[in-house]
Amino acid sequence: MSQEVSSRSTWSNRWAFILVTIGSAVGLGNIWKFSYIAGASEGSVGVFVVVYLACVALIGLPLLMAEILIGRRGRGNPVAAMLNTAEESGNSSWWALLGWAGIFGALMILSFYSVVSGWMVDYFWQYLAKGVQVNTPEETKAAFDAMMADPWRLSFWHTIFMILTVGVVARGVVSGIEIANKIMIPMLFLILILLTLWGAAAGDMPTALRFMFNLKVEAIKAGVVIDGMGHAFFSLSLGMGAIMAYGSYLDKDTNIGNTCLWIAIVGALIGLLCGAAIFSLTFGYGLTPAAGPGLILQTLPLAFSDMPGGRIFAVFFFLLVIFAAWTSSISLLEPFVSWLTERFGIRRSFAAWGTALPVWLLGVAVCLSFNEWARFKILGRILFEMLDHLATRFMMPLSGLAIAIYVGWRLGKVIVLDEIRLKQRMFRLWFNVVRFIVPVGITMIFLYELVLRDWFK
Ligand code: TRP
Repeated sequence: MSQEVSSRSTWSNRWAFILVTIGSAVGLGNIWKFSYIAGASEGSVGVFVVVYLACVALIGLPLLMAEILIGRRGRGNPVAAMLNTAEESGNSSWWALLGWAGIFGALMILSFYSVVSGWMVDYFWQYLAKGVQVNTPEETKAAFDAMMADPWRLSFWHTIFMILTVGVVARGVVSGIEIANKIMIPMLFLILILLTLWGAAAGDMPTALRFMFNLKVEAIKAGVVIDGMGHAFFSLSLGMGAIMAYGSYLDKDTNIGNTCLWIAIVGALIGLLCGAAIFSLTFGYGLTPAAGPGLILQTLPLAFSDMPGGRIFAVFFFLLVIFAAWTSSISLLEPFVSWLTERFGIRRSFAAWGTALPVWLLGVAVCLSFNEWARFKILGRILFEMLDHLATRFMMPLSGLAIAIYVGWRLGKVIVLDEIRLKQRMFRLWFNVVRFIVPVGITMIFLYELVLRDWFK
C-alpha cells in the first residue's frame, strides 16, 4: 500500500537544505545540554568532547545520510517514506512503524523542548525589558527556582514559543520553514561569532579551551564515552523523522554525502563555539562549570551582571538560544504535520494548529510537573524527566538502530547506491559503517543507558 504523494515542495537549492538541517541540528542540545554535560564530566571533559566529535563522524554522519536517503527515496512524510521504500525493496510494511515512532516521538520531544525554550524566552524578556542584576550564586538560583515554581509563568512562555513554532510550520515548507531558517541561521552565526569574541575578551578563553580539550586519557570513565555518543545523536536530530521529513523535500541531484559532511562539520563547530563562549565567561568570572542542567541560567547571569555591557550581551545571548531552539522545534513539528496533510489532504495551517494543541497541553502538564504536580512521579521521575528519558534514551537510539539495519541490510544495494552516489571506495566505507559500526555503537549506548546506568548506579 504505497501512499501516492502528488506535488510536493522542494527546497529552493542545496544550500537551503543545508541551512534548514543545520537549523534543526543546532539547538538547545548544543547550548544548554552540551555545556552542562561537558561541565558535569569534570576531569574528563576532553574525553567527552573528543568522543562526541568522533561519534558525530562515525555514527552521526552515516546515519544522517541514511535518514535523508530514506526520506528522499520515499518522497513523503516519514510514514509514507518508510511504506514506499519498503514496498519498492520488497520489505514488510511493518517497517512503517519506524515512521510512526518518529512522528510521535518528535511531538513528545517538542512538548518539553518548548517548555525549556520558554525559559529562554523568559530570560530574554527579563534582560530586554528591565535588566537583571544578581550578585551571588544564591540569588541566581533563587531567581531560577522562582520561575520554576510558577506554572502560569512557565506555561505563558511555553505558549508563546509554541505559537512561534506553529506560525512558521503553518506557512509551509519553502515559504515558512526555509525562509525562517534563511533569516535566523545567518543571524545566529553572526551573534555567535560576536559573542565568542566578546566572551574571549571579557572571560578567560585559554582556560575554557584547556578545560574543553584537556585530554586526560587516564580519566576516561565509561559514562563519559557513552555520554559523548548519546549527545552526538541528539545534537544531530537523528532517529525522530525530522531529518527524514526534511530529506523528502530534497531534489534528486543533490549529493547527499557532501551535503551531510557540511551539516556535521558546521553543527559540531557551532556546538564547540557555544561551549567556548560559555566556559570562557564561566571561568573568567570565577564560577564553576559543574552547575548541572541550570548551568546557563544559574551561572551566566552572574557573569552578565559583572561584565561591562552585560545586559546587551545577555539579550544577544538569549536571542541566539531562541533562534537555535526555534529552528529546531520547527523540525520537530514538521514530520507529523506533513503526515496529516499528505495522508488526509488537510490544509497545512489547519494541520499545524491542530497538532500543536495536544502538544501544547502536554507541555502545560510538563510546566505543572515542576511545581503543582511535582509529587506525581512515574518510576521516580516527574513528567518532564520522563518524557526526556523516554524520547532520548529509548526512542532515539532504537530508531537509529532500526534505520541502520534497514538501510544497511534490508533496502538493498541497488537503491542505496542509486541515492548515495559516492565514489566506490567511499561508498563501501560508508556502507560498512552503517552495517556494522553504527548498530554496534548504538547497541552499546542503549545497553549502557538502560542496563548499566540504572542498575549499577
Ligand atoms: N538537535 C536539536 C538540538 O540539539 C534537537 C532536535 C531537533 C532533535 N530535532 C530533533 C532531537 C529530532 C532529536 C530528534 O537541540
